[in-house]
Amino acid sequence: MTSFARSFWALAVTVALTTINPVQAQFVKAPTDLKRVVGHYNIPVRYKEVPTGICELDPHVKSYSGYADVGEKEHIFFWFFESRDIDPKDAPLTVWINGGPGSSSMIGLFEELGPCRVDPDGRVYSNPYSWSNVSNMLFIDQPSQVGFSYSEPVPGIKSDAGIVVLPDAVCPEYASEGSCGTYAYPNLTLTANSTPNAAPNFWKTLQGFMGAFPQYSRHGFHFATESYGGHYGPIFNEYIEEQNAHLPQGAIKINLETVLIGNGWYDPFYQYQAYYNFSVYPGNTYDYAPFDEANASMFFNNLYGKGNCLDRLRDCQNTGNNAICSNADSFCAYMVESVYDDVLGRDEYDVRELVPDPFPYGFYTSYLNTAEVQSAIGAFTNFSSNGAVGAAFDSTGDDGREIGTLSALRSLVQRGVTVGLYAGDADYNCNWIGNEVIADRVGAPGFSKAGYRDVKTSDAVVHGQVKQAGKFSFTRIYESGHEVPFYQPLASLEYFERAIHGLDIETGRHKVGYSYRTEGPARSTYREGNSTVQFEITPANLTYDVITNKPGAPWPSATMAKRSFRDQRARRRRPRARPFRFR
Ligand SMILES: *[C@@H]1O[C@H](CO)[C@@H](O)[C@H](O)[C@H]1NC(C)=O
Ligand SMILES: *[C@@H]1O[C@H](CO)[C@@H](O)[C@H](O)[C@H]1NC(C)=O
Ligand SMILES: *[C@@H]1O[C@H](CO)[C@@H](O)[C@H](O)[C@H]1NC(C)=O
Ligand SMILES: *[C@@H]1O[C@H](CO)[C@@H](O)[C@H](O)[C@H]1NC(C)=O
Ligand SMILES: *[C@@H]1O[C@H](CO)[C@@H](O)[C@H](O)[C@H]1NC(C)=O
Ligand SMILES: *[C@@H]1O[C@H](CO)[C@@H](O)[C@H](O)[C@H]1NC(C)=O
Ligand SMILES: *[C@@H]1O[C@H](CO)[C@@H](O)[C@H](O)[C@H]1NC(C)=O
Repeated sequence: MTSFARSFWALAVTVALTTINPVQAQFVKAPTDLKRVVGHYNIPVRYKEVPTGICELDPHVKSYSGYADVGEKEHIFFWFFESRDIDPKDAPLTVWINGGPGSSSMIGLFEELGPCRVDPDGRVYSNPYSWSNVSNMLFIDQPSQVGFSYSEPVPGIKSDAGIVVLPDAVCPEYASEGSCGTYAYPNLTLTANSTPNAAPNFWKTLQGFMGAFPQYSRHGFHFATESYGGHYGPIFNEYIEEQNAHLPQGAIKINLETVLIGNGWYDPFYQYQAYYNFSVYPGNTYDYAPFDEANASMFFNNLYGKGNCLDRLRDCQNTGNNAICSNADSFCAYMVESVYDDVLGRDEYDVRELVPDPFPYGFYTSYLNTAEVQSAIGAFTNFSSNGAVGAAFDSTGDDGREIGTLSALRSLVQRGVTVGLYAGDADYNCNWIGNEVIADRVGAPGFSKAGYRDVKTSDAVVHGQVKQAGKFSFTRIYESGHEVPFYQPLASLEYFERAIHGLDIETGRHKVGYSYRTEGPARSTYREGNSTVQFEITPANLTYDVITNKPGAPWPSATMAKRSFRDQRARRRRPRARPFRFR
């Protein structure tokens, strides 16, 4: 019996025997105020206008959230924000999705580039570097069961083993405070199990949204993502182009102009090697070379030794067999990627910090689990991560496959789409050394002859370097972990604005043509050194200072003074529980 089944029965028995004091308030009341419309391609859409103050604080800037019903039991949550500084009817439309597989796009919205952040006391404050300043922004939780997206909403208790359904919707007395809630029933067949399988529902969500909100969808379409988005971005957008070329009845053409991917996970064969490259040879740029010779050679052998990680990934590529790919990926994750976590206790997503790392801030997860916010956005479930999506993808070994990402990127470049790959250089998980190898392998015309230039931004600080040929670019961002817009908000917003307008990333002053090419050194050699590397755990009550690139002043917060490290662990955004990894 699995531990999930064991705890299920234990709980089921207890529920039956205890006299219960019902605490119905912990479950989400199904919204009754959603407007229903039918979008393009006959996709039903249910939505409502989100009141001012729930995220966007400016009453003149509208926001809508709701669901695209892409399957009988597959309901995809979206949250849309009008552009702040450009008339939303003239503004471009940008979709942002997070990775995982299984990570909610509320991560991007609240931790990175959305209109607001949430402080430790649960108060919303404005993000002046929101990407919605310059574009209409649509955040999508996909595939089904991620974030607020759901299959069927069920009352339950969440434990390490999974979700235990409470058939009578009564929260038992023994349940620890705040552990009962409404969850998407974790059904592996009601979500996608691979990147290619997830593409159609993503496209249907766009068809639904664009039909429901034609006023926001008249101009160019742009797509931005990070992390596992290195799989999603190329495949989903190539799918959009293929649908455009053979448009099914009732669907509309999506005018794709830009694809941006931050710290992407594209190709395991090169990126598992990059873990060694980032830690040992040639190493990272923070003068952080932690491994002794014995550990370094173990690391090397786990990768290159006979029958080890690379041999297994080759077997996966040669056979295409789900079990072989899944096992290869697990082997590489445990024996190569996790060497770092197991030995060093550093944050894989920002090697400058030890774990638990309080950055980026995760206070919004409690905010999203209040009845007020759920009702304001029309949510049917609590906000939570759902193991079903990770498990479904794991069953096909999607993470351990190249899955066509490079040829899709090449094709997008050939179609004239602006493709920008960028990488914060303190991230180990999808590190810039691996991302740079991928950028080279895309083989965009002229790219092998381009060189690095400093990126010039309005604050006159050099935040990184770019190599660009035509509309294809690779940008390295200094002093940044995995979630670049959190660490480098000003540079990220200016980068985004340049990219979606087809301008050069270096200055943002020139429209980029086919023959455009940056000149400079072939390698980006700047070294930060270790002055921002922390050698003690950063207290949970500190803010992050984007000027010094280090932990800064404490939050001026009453709640924070009472917070313990237990809370801090609980709000880590990507559960590290094996066997699933989140990118
Ligand atoms: C689920 O949301 C309700 C509010 O609707 C809240 O009271 C409850 O604590 C939440 N549960 C969890 C596990 O966050
Ligand atoms: C973004 O827009 C808001 C509201 O218009 C404005 O206050 C803020 O200064 C803008 N941010 C930048 C970086 O221009
Ligand atoms: C999962 O969903 C499928 C399709 O709706 C259904 O046939 C199946 O019974 C569900 N599985 C479980 C365990 O509920
Ligand atoms: C990564 O390390 C391997 C093994 O030392 C080496 O052959 C390869 O050139 C390195 N790659 C990069 C991009 O530095
Ligand atoms: C290397 O591995 C050994 C165990 O074999 C461990 O005791 C040691 O601390 C490790 N040191 C590093 C970080 O290289
Ligand atoms: C920081 O880097 C300097 C120069 O490379 C080195 O001398 C020093 O030992 C490093 N400090 C730590 C704590 O690793
Ligand atoms: C912040 O946390 C640290 C360590 O937990 C504690 O020593 C310090 O007093 C706290 N500071 C404030 C302002 O709450």
